[in-house]
Amino acid sequence: MTEIVPSETMASQLPESRVVCIGEFVELVRPTAEEADRMVRLRNEPANRRWFFDNRILDPIQSRRWILESSQRTHDEYLAIRWRGDGRLMGTIGWSGLSRAQGSAWFGRIILDRKEARTLRYEVGRRYPGPMLDAAISLRDYAFTDMGLRVMRASVLATNCKALAFTKRVGLRPFAVCDRLTPRLTTMRTVEFALTISRWKVLATK
Ligand SMILES: CC(C)(COP(=O)(O)OP(=O)(O)OC[C@H]1O[C@@H](n2cnc3c(N)ncnc32)[C@H](O)[C@@H]1OP(=O)(O)O)[C@@H](O)C(=O)NCCC(=O)NCCS
Repeated sequence: MTEIVPSETMASQLPESRVVCIGEFVELVRPTAEEADRMVRLRNEPANRRWFFDNRILDPIQSRRWILESSQRTHDEYLAIRWRGDGRLMGTIGWSGLSRAQGSAWFGRIILDRKEARTLRYEVGRRYPGPMLDAAISLRDYAFTDMGLRVMRASVLATNCKALAFTKRVGLRPFAVCDRLTPRLTTMRTVEFALTISRWKVLATK
């Protein structure tokens, strides 16, 4: 991706409030300590962590601190997805590698709490695309407006069919396949995705 952004429009202007952005039924928030603990537990569930490039178990104490301090760093965030109706935690989402020079960031840290999601069947209509897509679309739109990004990137394990389909539904396009060396010194194949601001503008007007 070659588009370059004028730099000062980015992280320095991000709001410091707890709520970062709002979707149809969810809000993306900087977590409380209690939520951070639940986020780590969710990330450490074998069915979830197996899909992460670094799939080692996170230390609960260190990770809680790391999550709670992410708003003090300029390049990454680990957000809680709350159901707006009653504030319960539905999952996590975030970004890393925010580059002012390139106007880009890597989006991910995506985990849906399926047990919670299943309870929604009776609360929302059939046309609702689910809390994770709701969250991801709201973060996507926030990225191209408030964050001032020009390119949104994501990297998904090539075997993670659900996440591949999900990422396409958010509007990102696959453009490369990579074999990456993991922290465990094994190789994992990933599909690299991107969404440029020009394509986002087309999506947003549909
Ligand atoms: C990848 C992922 C985020 C995709 O999420 P998704 O496409 O929104 O949701 P899924 O199809 O996985 O599950 C949706 C669940 O929400 C529930 N749900 C409730 N209401 C819903 C609604 N209105 N619409 C859609 N789903 C709803 C469904 O019951 C479903 O549960 P089920 O699988 O028991 O039927 C999700 O599968 C996940 O968290 N995977 C594990 C972690 C992971 O792979 N992360 C990505 C790393 S790159």
